[in-house]
Amino acid sequence: MKRQAGKVLSHVAGYVGMRTIEIGLTHGLFEALAKHAVGLTPEQLAAEKSVDEFYVGVWCRAAYAAEVLESPGSGRYTLAPGMDKLLLDEDFPGYLGAIPSVMLQPEMFDHFSERLPSGERTWWDRTSPEWIAAVSGTGRSFYTRLVPGGLERVPGLTDRLGSGSSIIELACGAGIGLARLARAFPEADIVGLDGDAYSLNLTTRRLTEEGLVGRARLIESSLEGLDETDRYDVAINNISMHECRDIDKATANVYRALKPGGTFVISDFPFPSSEEGLRTVPGRIMTGIQFFEGQIDDQLLSVEDYVTLLGKHGFREIGSFEITPVHAVVHGRK
Ligand SMILES: C[S@@+](CC[C@H](N)C(=O)[O-])C[C@H]1O[C@@H](n2cnc3c(N)ncnc32)[C@H](O)[C@@H]1O
Repeated sequence: MKRQAGKVLSHVAGYVGMRTIEIGLTHGLFEALAKHAVGLTPEQLAAEKSVDEFYVGVWCRAAYAAEVLESPGSGRYTLAPGMDKLLLDEDFPGYLGAIPSVMLQPEMFDHFSERLPSGERTWWDRTSPEWIAAVSGTGRSFYTRLVPGGLERVPGLTDRLGSGSSIIELACGAGIGLARLARAFPEADIVGLDGDAYSLNLTTRRLTEEGLVGRARLIESSLEGLDETDRYDVAINNISMHECRDIDKATANVYRALKPGGTFVISDFPFPSSEEGLRTVPGRIMTGIQFFEGQIDDQLLSVEDYVTLLGKHGFREIGSFEITPVHAVVHGRK
């Protein structure tokens, strides 16, 4: 009984840790501590951030308990090793700082709970700007790992991306990937497709802000509506392929849209294919993501599912690799 109680309580402790991290990120407490290698007392931290001293003390103890802060003595706190990169450096490949915010958006668990009796479904155009921003923040680390490092691991892919080549990013969302692709492959023609108009507006804004106007053509369409033939050298889909309404139609459309020899790259969460995998930390996080996916009427897929899908639609030289325990790439050639 004691051991079973411990399991429940460890989930409660995890919740406390995640809320603590989210408060520290929202109020810039980690950022302030990162500037002081010798650490700050709660009083000093409160003064620096113009927030309540007593509350900061409460937060510091919780963050120390969660092992994201260390306490080197004299009542001071510092960031624990690596936390500057993991929580604050948006371009670090292992950046985790966007995850607490996505988990805490009402779209993830609150709306699921409200809809549980009715089973009502939703789609991206009914989600909030905050949700789309939070998801895009999580997708960012996937792009950091994929462009160009992950793509370089796909046999023959980057060799094709010289002048006259073209890349389509399917379900490009808020455009972080398109901007990365435009920079990494300056000679390639870049196209972004998404079914959500609001996300495409964010993409336009991002490309403008990053001085990349005219570098990417945008198409508002579903993957199921993609109707092009022999056009692209590479098609990329980041954390979205599992969301297709009709994944067979979408995959057949991608196959048709690729030039002969072109490559389809699916970069996604590798949902565990065994019950054992569900009980790992990555598996548990992915079962959390399923609460949103369920509301848009899909579920994450396993690497094996994607390999089967590509094989079924005529792709050859199918391969896959894991970049992190929550990020896998599956690829195939036309
Ligand atoms: C999880 S977000 C990822 C966005 C982006 N790839 C990223 O990593 O930040 C999923 C995106 O896929 C788009 N999407 C989902 N299903 C789609 C479909 N069948 N056709 C086109 N876009 C789709 C949504 O509009 C949304 O922008």
